[in-house]
Amino acid sequence: MIQIKDLNIGYESSGVCTTVLTDINLELADGETCAIIGPSGCGKSTLLKILAGIITSFAGTVLIDGQPIMPKQQKIGFIPQNYGLLPWKNIADNIRLGVKIKNKNAKDCANALAEMVQLLGLGGLEYRYPGELSGGQQQRVALARAFLLHPDLLLMDEPFSALDAMTREEIQNVFLDVWRRHSVSTILVTHHVEEAVYLGRKIVILSAAPGTVSKVIDNPLFGVEGIRNHQDFFQLCLELRKTIKEDWSK
Ligand SMILES: Nc1ncnc2c1ncn2[C@@H]1O[C@H](COP(=O)(O)OP(=O)(O)OP(=O)(O)O)[C@@H](O)[C@H]1O
Ligand SMILES: [Mg+2]
Repeated sequence: MIQIKDLNIGYESSGVCTTVLTDINLELADGETCAIIGPSGCGKSTLLKILAGIITSFAGTVLIDGQPIMPKQQKIGFIPQNYGLLPWKNIADNIRLGVKIKNKNAKDCANALAEMVQLLGLGGLEYRYPGELSGGQQQRVALARAFLLHPDLLLMDEPFSALDAMTREEIQNVFLDVWRRHSVSTILVTHHVEEAVYLGRKIVILSAAPGTVSKVIDNPLFGVEGIRNHQDFFQLCLELRKTIKEDWSK
C-alpha cells in the first residue's frame, strides 16, 4: 500500500521558497491504478519524483508498505516526463537497464525483452540510439524498460503524451495487459480525461498551484471490457471534464 500523509513541499529559487504541493493525503491499495490530473505547474511531476525517491526533502510522510521510500530496496519503475533514456546506450540496453540495476546477476532476460520489443512495436530499432528515434518511439522504449522490470510500484509521468491517437490506444492496452498479468500498483499523470477514465481505478484531481487534492473519484468503469465505446464512458468523461473545469476555475 502507498500512503501519503500531510505532504508539503516547496522549491527554493533565488532565495525565495515557493510552495508547490500542500497537505496531500492519498492512499493507494496494492495493485490499484491511480490517474492524477492537474493543471500545468501544480506539482504532479514533483509528486512522482518524491514517490520515486528522487526528491527526498519534503514535509510529511510517504510510505510504501509501511516503509519510507528506499529505491534501492523497493522495485520502483519510473517513467519521467522526458523519458529518462541514456543517449549513449542503444535501445536494447536502455530497455534492459532497469532490470540490470535491480539485479546485477539477472538471468538473461532475452525472451522477455524480445516480447516487450514486439508488444511496443520497437522491432528493428534495438541497435539504434535514443537520438535516432522519434519522440513517440523513445516513449515506448521508456515504457518497455519500466514494464520489463515488473516493478512493485509503477510511476508514469504523461507516458503516452507523444503518441498518435491510434498508437496511444494500443499502448494503453499493452499497459492494461501488463497490469492484469502482474497487478502492479500504478500512478500515472495525464492531461487526458479519457485516459484517466480508461486507466485509473482511482482518479485524483489536483487543484491549481500550489497543488492539493481536490477530489478522489472511485472509477466504476475501470477494467470493464470494451468500455471505451460505451455510452457510460462518454458520460463519465463529460462529468469529469465539467468537475475539472469548475475546480480549476476556482
Ligand atoms: N527544480 C526546481 N526548482 C524550482 N522550481 C521548480 C523545480 N522543479 C519544478 N519547479 C516548479 O514547481 C512547480 C511544479 O512543477 P512540476 O514539474 O511538478 O509541475 P507539473 O504539475 O508536473 O507541470 P506539467 O503539467 O507542466 O508537467 C512549477 O511551478 C515549477 O516551475
Ligand atoms: Mg509534469
